[in-house]
Amino acid sequence: MTVTPDVMPVNLLDLQQLAQERLAKQAFDYYVSGANDEITLRENREAFSRIFLSPKMLVDVSARSLSTTALGQPLSMPVMIAPTAFQRMAHPDGEVATVRAAGKAGTAMTLSTLSTSSIEEVLEAATGPVWFQLYVYKDRGITASLVRRAEAAGCKAIVLTVDSPMLGRREADVKNRFHLPDGLSVKNLMQSAMDEFPTDAAGSGLAAYIASLYETALTWKDVEWLRSITDLPVLVKGIMRPDDALMAVQRGVNGIVVSNHGGRQLDTVSATITVLPRIVEAVNGNVEVFIDGGIRRGTDVLKALAYGARAVMLGRPIIWGLALEGDAGVGLALELLRTEIDLAMALSGIPDVQHVSRDLIYS
Ligand code: FNR
Ligand code: LAC
Repeated sequence: MTVTPDVMPVNLLDLQQLAQERLAKQAFDYYVSGANDEITLRENREAFSRIFLSPKMLVDVSARSLSTTALGQPLSMPVMIAPTAFQRMAHPDGEVATVRAAGKAGTAMTLSTLSTSSIEEVLEAATGPVWFQLYVYKDRGITASLVRRAEAAGCKAIVLTVDSPMLGRREADVKNRFHLPDGLSVKNLMQSAMDEFPTDAAGSGLAAYIASLYETALTWKDVEWLRSITDLPVLVKGIMRPDDALMAVQRGVNGIVVSNHGGRQLDTVSATITVLPRIVEAVNGNVEVFIDGGIRRGTDVLKALAYGARAVMLGRPIIWGLALEGDAGVGLALELLRTEIDLAMALSGIPDVQHVSRDLIYS
């Protein structure tokens, strides 16, 4: 890192402030915002602070293993990269830098449909597993072609995001009339001429783009449709209720991502860590459950695993790392969290991250 010692980031929270200094206001506001009053955005963090740990003493923790798997794919730690849009606003190398860092760290990246690098460019640079996050366009031919391209490029799973039939109202984006800077576009949609936001949007250009092109009539039938057109594992992202989790399992999905979109969609939804235990209970071991939203500390990761998550995903901290120093910055974000998980394991009496159990939570 080319940062002076007085601003040396020692945790993921420090990265945000450093990134803010480097980003244009419009870009920082887009990345940082939650919807409306940002109650869910704050709650995602605060809920972790209301959960307490019950560490075991006098366990030999001289050798510790953080390795695990997600849908059978190896991970060097139970942390993956969540899909976030428009990464070239943060750094010229964008998603290509992120995938390089993921590979180096031994973890998996989920690539957004709304990336500013193409699926093919990203997979070309990948040395580890990449999952493709799918948004369903009204035009199913275009949607199916995204799935085909993800398969052909070598993606290992499709992550269907179901919490965004319309875009949540991020008020800073409305005020900034958020649009993509010159030279950037929704790269994967170039062939379909759907790579630009409408130019006449009164507020957020992204909200207008999504309102005109995304499938507002998305239902469980579309999950069945997706299941029927691909042999790749399918995950459903954005589940917040046990009955929805069960519906997903009944439709043959391979995984669930408990997510409220980082507090960016419906405001005043519960924190993801609050709803996780009941979703895990409903799913009853039939599919793997992942979680994102407000994960910033090693202890957050252990709490999620104790409640039954297979692994967690990081959204904004990856963007802050990217803004700081491209792939090295993303690597720094991942290593800061790895160090915290390792220490929290040592202090909790957990030598193997795959053996975190519910009794780690004080109740
Ligand atoms: C997102 N998220 C998201 N999700 C998705 O399925 N497709 C996408 O394109 C995006 N884009 C996106 C952009 C930005 C700037 C953010 C912050 C988030 C949601 C993301 O995958 C994840 O659910 C949250 O970011 C997790 O919360 P934290 O880690 O940011 O608190
Ligand atoms: C967002 C969309 C693109 O959260 O998922 O901005």
